[in-house]
Amino acid sequence: MNFRCSSAPLAELGCDGVALGLFSSSWQQQLAALLPALASQLELLLEQREFKAKGGEKHSFSFPGQQPSLVIISGLGEPDGFDGLALRKAAASLALASRGSNLKALALGLPLEAFAPDQALTALMQGCRLALYKDERFRSENKPSLDPGEIVLQGLASELDQQLAQQEAICQGVMLARELVAAPPNVVNSLSLEATARSIADQFGCELTVLDEAACRERGMGAYLAVAQGASIPPRFLHLVIRPQGPVKRKLALVGKGLTFDSGGYNLKVGGSQIELMKFDMGGCGAVLGAARTLAELKLEGLEIHVISAATENMVSAEAIYPGAIVTASNGKTIEINNTDAEGRLTLADALVYACGLEPDAIVDLATLTGACVIALGDEIAGYWSPDDGLAQQLSDAAHRAGEGLWRMPLQSSYKDGLKSGLADMKNTGPRPGGSITAALFLKEFVKPEIPWAHIDIAGPVWSDKGRSTDPSGATGYGVRTLVEWCQAVAADAKEGLSQG
Ligand code: BES
Ligand code: MN
Ligand code: ZN
Repeated sequence: MNFRCSSAPLAELGCDGVALGLFSSSWQQQLAALLPALASQLELLLEQREFKAKGGEKHSFSFPGQQPSLVIISGLGEPDGFDGLALRKAAASLALASRGSNLKALALGLPLEAFAPDQALTALMQGCRLALYKDERFRSENKPSLDPGEIVLQGLASELDQQLAQQEAICQGVMLARELVAAPPNVVNSLSLEATARSIADQFGCELTVLDEAACRERGMGAYLAVAQGASIPPRFLHLVIRPQGPVKRKLALVGKGLTFDSGGYNLKVGGSQIELMKFDMGGCGAVLGAARTLAELKLEGLEIHVISAATENMVSAEAIYPGAIVTASNGKTIEINNTDAEGRLTLADALVYACGLEPDAIVDLATLTGACVIALGDEIAGYWSPDDGLAQQLSDAAHRAGEGLWRMPLQSSYKDGLKSGLADMKNTGPRPGGSITAALFLKEFVKPEIPWAHIDIAGPVWSDKGRSTDPSGATGYGVRTLVEWCQAVAADAKEGLSQG
């Protein structure tokens, strides 16, 4: 599917499909201005259907043999609340309504007056592209796509076409993350993730370092390897570096939990724990690799980006770690594994120590870490924790611009008592109440206090059972857009010579 911008009137674009959005106040006048030739006919048809142009109302009309042959009209409600997210949703829902019509070209006409051109372009293109994403990899039959061949973004100057490549790079990152997360655990594993990282490195000229089990043992990664020892597929510790063309002004580390399957280990997941969905437990890795795919193409000036994931699977076998085992992480801290199902934090512990060793200006980790976070915030909002208010604000702003739900949670230090062990420096699992907070406090033990760090628990938004107005059901690719927005903001700050956080 192709995208193009045009400021020519809708009726002059020569598209066989037209999709437009109308505000509830005076929708008849807007219709007359947008499609003068068809307006009176459409007005009658819409009135028959008692159209009020309320948000969510949508109607399609076909005019066989005419140009356009399909007109889709949606209500947008009052102009007041029509923000960037509403624009994205409107574009997504109109694009979806055109699906199956096999249009050569769909002209998309939405009111853009209240938006900056690049904000409008982002909402329209991402809205359409990511809503129309469809995963057909695992079907035996290849059905032809009946999506529009081209979407014309009406109301945007054609000079903006040069920004479409950047938007395409962002969409490709989100779609890569979705593909990685949705792929079943017998397809995506530590070795295939290595291959994915390698292909990003090859395609965009980045540097990839891969530590195998022996190399991880040499570095003393006893927490990560304790999880990996039950797996028959060997662990892979992935480290991808995206370097800028010119001098480095900021160094960032993105760390993703990379559990390609989480059975729970000997603390086996039981009924109701969605064990069959635990392929998505590498959603953090998927998000950072997706972001890497985008950022490697964008090559932001002044930014060196380190993408890290300790990939493995959490399995049951004679070699699997005992509940109650005590292991030592690569910073020398000892951990009593009182629950093998709290494995993500064990892998992240060594990944965070490694990231700190790179002395970055900031570290952000993403992880499908706790069911508790899903209970707290549901599946549209990720929770995040950071001791650094500056970094926390940057992430909140980035997520807002990206249209991804993100809510700051407390690092309540008194809850650390829940991780006290009678024998080791700490246990890996605290009590059930506040479970996502103790998980974050556990991770904090492996981060150097002088390095700004944030942890994002994406256990809820990594997956959508029902789908949303802007996305199909299944893997969402959550996190990619926020990470890219954040990196872009840090790069812009660095360029202006502002100090970090
Ligand atoms: N991968 C899970 C977290 C998870 C659970 C994500 C449900 C999405 C949906 C994680 O490894 C896990 O099992 N966490 C346990 C921690 C507990 C043992 C302290 C949990 O949340 O139940
Ligand atoms: Mn688990
Ligand atoms: Zn897990």
